[in-house]
Amino acid sequence: MGTVNLKGRSLLGLEHVSKEEIELILRVAKKMKKVVLSDDKKIPYLKGKSIVNLFMEPSTRTRSSFELAGKYLGADVINITPSGSSMVKGESFRDTLLTVSYMGTDAIVMRHKAEGAPLYATKCVKPIIVNAGDGAHEHPTQALLDMYSILERKGSLEGLKVVIAGDIMHSRVARSDIYGMTKMGADIHLVGPRTLVYPELEKMGVTVHHDIREALEGADVVNVLRIQLERIHSALYPTNREYARIFGINKEVLKAAKKDVMILHPGPMNRGLEIAPDVAYSDESMIQEQVRNGVSVRMAVLYLTIHGGDGSELAD
Ligand code: CP
Repeated sequence: MGTVNLKGRSLLGLEHVSKEEIELILRVAKKMKKVVLSDDKKIPYLKGKSIVNLFMEPSTRTRSSFELAGKYLGADVINITPSGSSMVKGESFRDTLLTVSYMGTDAIVMRHKAEGAPLYATKCVKPIIVNAGDGAHEHPTQALLDMYSILERKGSLEGLKVVIAGDIMHSRVARSDIYGMTKMGADIHLVGPRTLVYPELEKMGVTVHHDIREALEGADVVNVLRIQLERIHSALYPTNREYARIFGINKEVLKAAKKDVMILHPGPMNRGLEIAPDVAYSDESMIQEQVRNGVSVRMAVLYLTIHGGDGSELAD
């Protein structure tokens, strides 16, 4: 079918991934979703392959969905976290990577607080590296599942007004969303306080706002980002109460958006801070479906990078 083949490719971010490659991943994810929703979730295309989830930062969604994705595809999957490894005894990150890679590992799914850690890993070891979030740099599979969720409900990203609201400065999700969704033809608008959403971001081909109603005017999609309280310096941020009052996404401010607006949030949520509970659990919210789509998208990424091909062998 297509000429795009991701076999053997590491996925470090969406900056250098083409529109055709994104479309291939999303096409295969659609087939994987049928498997996720079925009674028999085992499709052993990765039987005999080994995947290590190396998570140097906490995670619920990404780690567990990569683990399930690998297992549904028949691979052997193990998890390593710093507290349960020899890193607590002083072993370096490089030596940990080398040790893991010499166990017959085909792919390492990696989360790290340092930007560029997955790129560094590709220089140290041979297995495919899949970035599961590096500092404030990129979180490519989150953006892929965001795009997949939008396609499911809207059919296309072309020409859609997508508002990304909140702590853009610390957000790897925002960066990957911008790279990916711009390539897919969406019109991206960022909104938040001046200290967290700076004008230079417009160089990425987006529009920057500091007024929530102005940003939401006619929006098709609102992606609400978590305020990363653990990374924010107090000088950059008012109080939670003030943030929620000025920038929180609630039913009232959403009146400016289109009637069929859809709400995304990568999770974990600070309910009542960046998003009101009645918005998070409304009919417009795709937040739980995003979690389910995370498994399908990660199955597609593991299948395409480890097994290869264009997915035509998979059932429609
Ligand atoms: N969205 C996301 O990356 O969530 P986790 O931190 O739970 O993996």
